[in-house]
Amino acid sequence: MARPWLLPFGLVVLLASVAQAAIVEHTFNVGNLSISQLCQTARIITAVNGQLPGPTIRAREGDTVVVHLVNHSPYNMTLHWHGVFQRGTPWADGPAMVTQCPVKPGANYTYRFNVKGQEGTLWWHAHISFLRATVYGALVIQPRSGANAYPFPSKPQREETIILGEWWNANVYDLERMAYLTGMPAAHADAYTINGKPGDFYNCSGANQTYKFQVHQNERILLRIINAALNTPMFFKVANHSFTVVGADAAYTTPYETDVVVIAPGQTVDALMVAGAAVGRYYVAASPYDSAIPRGPMISKTTGTAILEYVGSAGNQAPVLPPMPAYTDTHTAFRFFSNLTALILPGFPTVPLSVDHHMFVTIGLGVSDCQPDQFFCNKSTTVFSSSMNNASFVLPKSVSMLQAHYRNTPAGVYTRDFPDTPPVIFDYTADASDNATMQYTTKSTKVRTLKYNETMEMVLQNTRLIAKESHPMHLHGFNFFVLAQGFGNYDHATAVNKFNLVNPQERNTIAVPTGGWAVIRFVANNPGMWFMHCHFDAHMDLGLGMVFEVQDGPTAETSVPRPPADLPQC
Ligand code: C2O
Repeated sequence: MARPWLLPFGLVVLLASVAQAAIVEHTFNVGNLSISQLCQTARIITAVNGQLPGPTIRAREGDTVVVHLVNHSPYNMTLHWHGVFQRGTPWADGPAMVTQCPVKPGANYTYRFNVKGQEGTLWWHAHISFLRATVYGALVIQPRSGANAYPFPSKPQREETIILGEWWNANVYDLERMAYLTGMPAAHADAYTINGKPGDFYNCSGANQTYKFQVHQNERILLRIINAALNTPMFFKVANHSFTVVGADAAYTTPYETDVVVIAPGQTVDALMVAGAAVGRYYVAASPYDSAIPRGPMISKTTGTAILEYVGSAGNQAPVLPPMPAYTDTHTAFRFFSNLTALILPGFPTVPLSVDHHMFVTIGLGVSDCQPDQFFCNKSTTVFSSSMNNASFVLPKSVSMLQAHYRNTPAGVYTRDFPDTPPVIFDYTADASDNATMQYTTKSTKVRTLKYNETMEMVLQNTRLIAKESHPMHLHGFNFFVLAQGFGNYDHATAVNKFNLVNPQERNTIAVPTGGWAVIRFVANNPGMWFMHCHFDAHMDLGLGMVFEVQDGPTAETSVPRPPADLPQC
């Protein structure tokens, strides 16, 4: 039986050809912004157009987006359109040294791409150093024919974008340099923020440091929630309200009822919320989920807040605070992450049922020899390092990987030997398995090459080397389907029975369960160089990444095009 909300959607698809694709054009001036936050009065941060968060890009499915990046900042810069497939425009993806050299201070670059076949909430951020801490914003894609075409059980009357972030009192560029030079992870954030503001529970919080939005009683609101934090998965609640999740990572989900949203860095969640509580004021709250075992000291156990204000409430009424899950609540995180399924709709892709290649990839922390330019480096010093299958990823320095791929001159830039399995099979997740030999990784720039249109199935297996942790693994250039996930060591014989091959959730970022595994599938229908990495910047920096090199297909449309004339050179 057709679900009733599918019918209007089908009609809308017929009408879609009438609505013209538009060009959505922005100029992003990246530069210094002086702001007051926590107890600092004139902190200089790097920001787009003097705003934190930066501007929201609003487009409709099929539109072309053009963003002129003008770099007035003192830092090298690139921008990434997180979750946009970039089909036919791999030069616009943005990760520094993967698809482009950085835009130098004083220089410009224009990003041009389309948002075909994608609807929902995505976002954009700097993809160099830790600069995305303050250089980020929302990218909202409505259906071609507008908000009436949402395939939701009930239509929202308004929308609100909620971007969760982290705030550092220190300069994040310097933090990243220090983390690299000392080989130690960077310190944790000083506050969690909602739409750039920390809220009422921090020192020096004042009227200006809390984000507020208003609703009418009984209004239906679509919350577009984005986790832009560098290193922290979040629990998200609104006091006395609950949600119907209808999308994640710009893919529609079967409506899922919950009073808590769990969202890892890089992920987005679209949730309907009815303003059905008494006229009043309510806290919107984001608190950390610390998945590391054993736990490090690397987390601020505070809560970032905004205020939801009903029209007609007294402005001085103290808001109600929701009870938040404990910061160690893996059960709540897993329940949320594993209960989402896709909403099957005509015109959207479904999970591929045959597979060309399988990979089994360990992800986690380890150690490596220090690099010659690091402090106190001598032969016997090891530093923290993270890896996939014990290959700890480093970015090339002289030319981007996509340029080397396009010219077919990988020598000295990358090698095509990323392994499909870990070097040794061991007990990945037991506490006793933190073994010194397996901790050791080597630095390299390895890719896994795929032919155009091949299907990859990948098991991501977390390890207990140093600590187990829920790593948010992000893939550029594609969505993948999440077939199954669980705790402990992956066992194919039992896991395969749990594969969802009917309506698995589609994502661009998966929070692999702590000390556990996830199975994903994607079709390599997009030629280019596509970064896969942990969306904790602290881990990506230490090497938790690799690149898929997808070869050209048979036609010009399925091949990497010539680079744009203004592509920055190193
Ligand atoms: Cu949002 Cu490579 O990242």
